[in-house]
Amino acid sequence: MPPMDIHPTAMSILLTSLVSWQVYKKFEPNSPAASFILLLVVPLCTLVYSDSLSILNTTLAIPLYWCLLLTFIILYRVSPFHPLSKYPGPLSCKVSKVWLAYIAARGDMHRYVKTLHERYGDVVRVGPNELSFRRKDIIEPILSNKELHKGPYYDLRQVPARNPVDGIKDYREHAARRRLWSRGTSVSMTKIYTQSLIVGIHELLDELLKRQDTTIDISEWLSFTATDFMGRMTFSTSFDMVKMGYDSVGIIKPVEEITYQSNIIAQTPWIIPYLMWLPQGKKALNQGHRLGGDMVRKRKALGTDTRDLYYYLMDEAGFEDVKPRETDVLSDGITAIAAGSDTTATAVTNTLYYLLKHPDVKTRLQRDIREVFANSQEVSDYTKSVELPFLDACINESLRLLPPGLTGFQRQVDPSGRGKMLGEHFVPPGTNVYAHLYSIQRDPRYFSPLPETFWPDRWLDQDTYTLPTGENISKDGLILSRDAYYPFSIGQQGCAGRNIALLELRTLLIAILRDFDIQAAEGYRLDGYEEALKDVHVTLRGPLYVQLHPVAT
Ligand code: HEM
Repeated sequence: MPPMDIHPTAMSILLTSLVSWQVYKKFEPNSPAASFILLLVVPLCTLVYSDSLSILNTTLAIPLYWCLLLTFIILYRVSPFHPLSKYPGPLSCKVSKVWLAYIAARGDMHRYVKTLHERYGDVVRVGPNELSFRRKDIIEPILSNKELHKGPYYDLRQVPARNPVDGIKDYREHAARRRLWSRGTSVSMTKIYTQSLIVGIHELLDELLKRQDTTIDISEWLSFTATDFMGRMTFSTSFDMVKMGYDSVGIIKPVEEITYQSNIIAQTPWIIPYLMWLPQGKKALNQGHRLGGDMVRKRKALGTDTRDLYYYLMDEAGFEDVKPRETDVLSDGITAIAAGSDTTATAVTNTLYYLLKHPDVKTRLQRDIREVFANSQEVSDYTKSVELPFLDACINESLRLLPPGLTGFQRQVDPSGRGKMLGEHFVPPGTNVYAHLYSIQRDPRYFSPLPETFWPDRWLDQDTYTLPTGENISKDGLILSRDAYYPFSIGQQGCAGRNIALLELRTLLIAILRDFDIQAAEGYRLDGYEEALKDVHVTLRGPLYVQLHPVAT
């Protein structure tokens, strides 16, 4: 057989694309300059070098070069030579993260990855270089391990002039910043914040009372309440959303939009530098920064009589040798408002949703609350909430089934290291990993019986349990793996506001359920609420329409 006669130009292009692919294999194309060189300068140089630079050659050869490059990338990713080849997963995920970006755009990541685990098992390859784990013994090695840093998902938080605590990858730098947060969110500060929380809750109760027996979207009112509180807690400024009955500073929708867009972009973080070139991308990425700037300026101008989170983030007490940078404080202030209001509002709304779906649980909880809190004024006595174990059981159960951060939190095995054993699985350097929260917290191996059902009793410590079906089971028949429950994440990079969140959750639920009987609005399909939830790293919620009837005190 005669040897294949390949045109010399095609041969040069083939060889060049092979070399460029080697470069792509090692480094993500995350710099526009590098991509420009690899995608245009390199093939042009090849044509010049092989003396075949002409308009015809250029228009044919360059697209050929791109096609070959793409083909090599794809073939390698699905080939047995890829370091993650032994891990199962759908072809679309192995080929590119663009598929997950599409799933993210639909807000379906939590359900999608759960179905992947049901199909492929405990470890699934969800991206060319990404693994999802569904095993409780792998939560800690992923999330509480200084050898694993936050993955490229968090790159978006490190755009110029932004350096929020949740985007810091370096453990030492992160620990220094968390010191400021820890002072501002300590248990003793929680007591101080309770006062401003109660002011906000009374404002909410007043407004709800005015709207008794009409249909309201409680989800929206809870967003107003939580955002007002974060404003008070962080900058000693209320946005007065509850009093005005709408998002008076136009902050909620922009934050939701940025979170939604960021969650898509963060699937393919190499795209970030390109977005910064586009006016739209720049605008979206900088919007939050501008929102926070105003609050910081106002807080600096007015000062404050009581200590707030800003006081600690700015280290106004002078604990630190080096004063924090104002831009960092600004970023963290925005993070507090974004991370603190929406998550809490989601957790309370989700809990109310489950209570509406399970009226017997709601009645029981209301009875407990009304026994302990005789009137609205007592709601401020936060210490009494410890007398309500069933309330905590309902909150835990809601955070188990629908944690506000649904999917989990990406970490990366050191790209310059030698890889890492996660359980019995060797994970190569540079691999992104996460423990899939939505799957793990619904796994029958860890929560049984009825892992997918809202059944708060599982959190109570008793000898026998009555299931919603009426059947009785003994303690031995119950599986409750507290180490598979991590809605606030764990470790040094876990939620900085956990104490405050729990304070808010308990107090808000006590206040609403004590003062009102709540039911789904007439004609409103309750299941639609859960179906409409979107996983965008945190949760985007639709409305939860209810009617409230005040109870006599
Ligand atoms: C029910 C309510 C809440 C839930 C479920 C929740 C959950 C979480 C989770 C899972 C993380 C880790 C995210 C990641 O690794 O990407 C986190 C981080 C964080 N949360 Fe919360 N959170 C809640 C409320 C709050 C509140 C009220 C605040 C503010 C006072 C807050 C402030 C933060 C901050 C600053 C971080 C970043 C911590 C770091 O990276 O060091 N959270 N939260």
